[in-house]
Amino acid sequence: MKLLASTLTALSIAFASAVNAAPIELKFSHVVAENTPKGQMALKFKELVDQRLPGKVEVKVYPNSQLYGDGKELEALLLGDVELISPSLSKFKKYTKKLQVFDLPFLFQDMAAVERFQASSAGQELLSSLESKGLVGLGYLHNGMKQLSANEPLYTPADAKGKKFRIMSSDVLAAQFEAVDAVPLKKPFSEVFTLLQTRAIDGQENTWSNIYSKKFFEVQASITESNHGVLDYLIVTSAEFWHELPDDIRSELKAALDEAVAHGNQIAAQKAEKDKANIMASNRSEIISLSPEQRQQWVEAMKPVWQQFESEIGKNIIDAAVAANQ
Ligand code: LMR
Repeated sequence: MKLLASTLTALSIAFASAVNAAPIELKFSHVVAENTPKGQMALKFKELVDQRLPGKVEVKVYPNSQLYGDGKELEALLLGDVELISPSLSKFKKYTKKLQVFDLPFLFQDMAAVERFQASSAGQELLSSLESKGLVGLGYLHNGMKQLSANEPLYTPADAKGKKFRIMSSDVLAAQFEAVDAVPLKKPFSEVFTLLQTRAIDGQENTWSNIYSKKFFEVQASITESNHGVLDYLIVTSAEFWHELPDDIRSELKAALDEAVAHGNQIAAQKAEKDKANIMASNRSEIISLSPEQRQQWVEAMKPVWQQFESEIGKNIIDAAVAANQ
């Protein structure tokens, strides 16, 4: 099946590169709304490729889990059903344990630290941690720091006890909620709104732009501004697709992607502020600021998770991430 898909990919690229051939089709599938950093990055990438590779490459963007939800997109990529995806760094555990570093609670003090770590040699090495699995990491993209929302105010870890929280498919995130005696449930992003609305779950963690664009704030009583973790992305393609591309097209696509990422990162920084303000203005959900003492309680409860995952992630990687805070 995989062999057939790869042969077909190679054939279609070879065919498309021939004179007068149809353009190479590049499907970019993602799960978020268009008015998010990732949604805007994908559209910018399409715009740049349309300008620079007209008739050679045609980018089609599928937002909102239209084509594949987050449970299926990596498999679809490996099968050659889609060419570009950008899952959150929390969704790669089947392929590498090292990226789990990004899920450790209270590791990065802000997005500038995340940026420094990603640009460091340790961060850049992680981009290639998927190569043996047939995946090529083309770069990181920011969303932002995560906040905790729930159907009742969360001030201290005791308030989370027994509550059910939706998490992405990450064992570190499961351990993070277990550390405060809450119940983590791994669910696809496309199901979160309904799960919250029907009270099948009590809360979730996400960035301001995801909470706003998917209207989670309309079905949650409160959002605690915890900034306890980061939600960033890895842009990935399959080795088969990427290495079969003609050199000039591959380098043009990479340049367009780098520019689109810079654009997405700018939007991420703006949206974190703007969508928080939009939620505040809606008066639908109370935004809770933690006192330093309250925040410290969350830190103390959740930080033991680092130790639990140190051997899987690698101490050197965790140390490099910590060093990026200075
Ligand atoms: C989530 O599942 O909550 C996020 O990873 C969605 C996304 O891609 O931002």
